[in-house]
Amino acid sequence: MRIYLDHAATSFPKPDTVYQAMDRYHRQSGAAIGRGATEAASELQRTVQQCRQHLATFFDAPSADHIIFASNGTDALNIAIHGFLKPEDHVIASCWDHNSVLRPLETLRQRGSITTTILDSDGAGRIDMKAFEESLTAKTKLVVLNHASNVTGVIQPVQEMAQIAREQGAITLLDAAQSAGHVDVSMKKLGVDMIACPGHKGLLGPLGTGVLILDPEIAPSILPMKQGGTGTASELLQQPESFPDRLESGNHNAPGIVGLDAALEWILNQDRAELEKKEHELTDQLMDGLSALPRVDVVLNDARDLERTGVISFTIDGVDPQVICSLLDEHFSIESRAGLHCAPLAHRELGTFDAGGTVRLSLGAMTTAEEIDLTLEAVGQLVVAVGI
Ligand SMILES: Cc1ncc(COP(=O)(O)O)c(C=O)c1O
Repeated sequence: MRIYLDHAATSFPKPDTVYQAMDRYHRQSGAAIGRGATEAASELQRTVQQCRQHLATFFDAPSADHIIFASNGTDALNIAIHGFLKPEDHVIASCWDHNSVLRPLETLRQRGSITTTILDSDGAGRIDMKAFEESLTAKTKLVVLNHASNVTGVIQPVQEMAQIAREQGAITLLDAAQSAGHVDVSMKKLGVDMIACPGHKGLLGPLGTGVLILDPEIAPSILPMKQGGTGTASELLQQPESFPDRLESGNHNAPGIVGLDAALEWILNQDRAELEKKEHELTDQLMDGLSALPRVDVVLNDARDLERTGVISFTIDGVDPQVICSLLDEHFSIESRAGLHCAPLAHRELGTFDAGGTVRLSLGAMTTAEEIDLTLEAVGQLVVAVGI
């Protein structure tokens, strides 16, 4: 039995309806989005509109037209970061951010274009709020908010941070890569200006999909990183100003968007509070079980009162995380992920950087209690087998 516990990288399996919708698109449509008036193209256009609408409902966003399709979470973050920032802007991010936030910021910083403040942790898994408030200045134009860490699963106080940022006149960009599909992500309730999110993780869509959700008031201040054909206003040499075309040049990933739409339909029809509760219970089961094993160190195990998603990192004293990950796969068909998970600063903060990071187990909508039991048994056997 294959046990897939790498949902933080990409979710698997997807709901059956995702495969069916994509298969149907490939075999029976094959049309390009916004580039034709055939029956197939019109039907596809309706699906694309429906997908934007589903996203607006899911994220409680004010405008479906200001939802931009991207190719993954990294792409969505780059469109926002490179498009929004101007020379001499100051940006705040944190040690919990992924390289898809840290690297675009570092690139702009090294070019001498922007200044950055990368916030430390409070020492217990969350952002140091005092440092955050102190680092906001008149030059701070953007605050990037990591909603949930892809190393620890800990949810950050993003609503509070967005409120503080707004009072200081800064715009907020929420990285919802590890929260969407796991906890409620309401643009209105959280009070954020932009949300970047992969379509292929908790949203259960196919790889090659991502979205950037914009507050319509902020949207015009984002310059398009890419210019080109949009299938609209073709008589103009300049990029259209209207949304979403302004930020969506070139042919779309039509099969991906069709699959994402089916995935959203599936999620919107679930009892999401129930899914969240189940993930919570399985996370507790996994953390309790792992921390009861000798020489197994569960990251932030003593911060059990923190709100978190089903992402758990652990190490086994003296054993390379990559070895544990390979053994789990080879002998137990358990798929995990080892290393720094593209979040080097998080590992520096947790003290796991020098030992090569952690083994990460991440849960998804389809994970079962039986799979967690089998995983705990497997890790228990490994602890004995590696001779500790
Ligand atoms: C917190 C976080 N942000 C951004 C990303 C990038 O998403 P993608 O892999 O879709 O580019 C990831 C991916 O793991 C992530 O965990």
